[in-house]
Amino acid sequence: MKKYQSYIDQLETHLFKNDESRFLAQQLLRLHKETELKPNPLIVELGVDRGQSTRVFLNAIDGKQNAKLISIDIKDCRNAVIDENWEFVQQDSANIEKLLLNKPLIKKGIDILYVDSLHTANHVEKEIYNFFEYLNNDALIFFDDIDSGPYMSKQRKDSVNTEISNRKIFKLLEAIFRGNMDKIDFEIMRGSTGLGIFKKRKNLGEKLNPPVFVKERNNAIISKLYQKILFKKTYRHNTKSSSSFLIDPEKNKE
Ligand SMILES: C[S@@+](CC[C@H](N)C(=O)[O-])C[C@H]1O[C@@H](n2cnc3c(N)ncnc32)[C@H](O)[C@@H]1O
Repeated sequence: MKKYQSYIDQLETHLFKNDESRFLAQQLLRLHKETELKPNPLIVELGVDRGQSTRVFLNAIDGKQNAKLISIDIKDCRNAVIDENWEFVQQDSANIEKLLLNKPLIKKGIDILYVDSLHTANHVEKEIYNFFEYLNNDALIFFDDIDSGPYMSKQRKDSVNTEISNRKIFKLLEAIFRGNMDKIDFEIMRGSTGLGIFKKRKNLGEKLNPPVFVKERNNAIISKLYQKILFKKTYRHNTKSSSSFLIDPEKNKE
């Protein structure tokens, strides 16, 4: 039996529940599935605590010849698990220079980066910008806790600080995506505390462009007035031709 298999089995039983535990199980099992699909991945985990995600990754790489999980936490988590495929580093997860001195293997390319340490937009921004160039093509970056929904007023985890922090993190991910659409794909899993998933579409060494924040419009009347004054064009769907389609569906008439 693979290591920590009983935990994976337990997660699988939650996929059939009607409560919120289903969404947590979906998130963790997605990490598991993507890790299993990689032949010999180098995984870097930011944030260990009691080793919930650590166990998921270690189960998925159990039996793979050259796979490894390097986990980082600011506190001493060296006893969270005992596993030959696991290396623990106690340090600030955003300090890439220090990490590279200790673990130069990272320069050869990370296949999975799991971001679950200090949940502030500022820290997450440092982590993603510092690690991105060390990710291989097709590498996945998972961001835990990006949904403010469960932390909003009268919700299961009602907490104003986390609600605001998670919203900032989510807006940051959207802004990074906006500035880097040629470099990353972006997916979101919802229902639990949220899992953001970036897929890198560029080679090792490629860096991220700065995030692009766009001001939200919340008042249609004022916004339209402003557009008129500035002669700004607004998008209209063309119903008479296919010019509004990015990929013309009428080109292939069979
Ligand atoms: C949410 S927990 C991680 C949970 C873990 N991934 C799991 O699934 O069980 C967050 C962890 O991040 C760590 N942490 C907080 N600030 C940090 C920092 N600046 N650098 C590295 N780790 C940090 C905390 O000590 C804590 O253990």
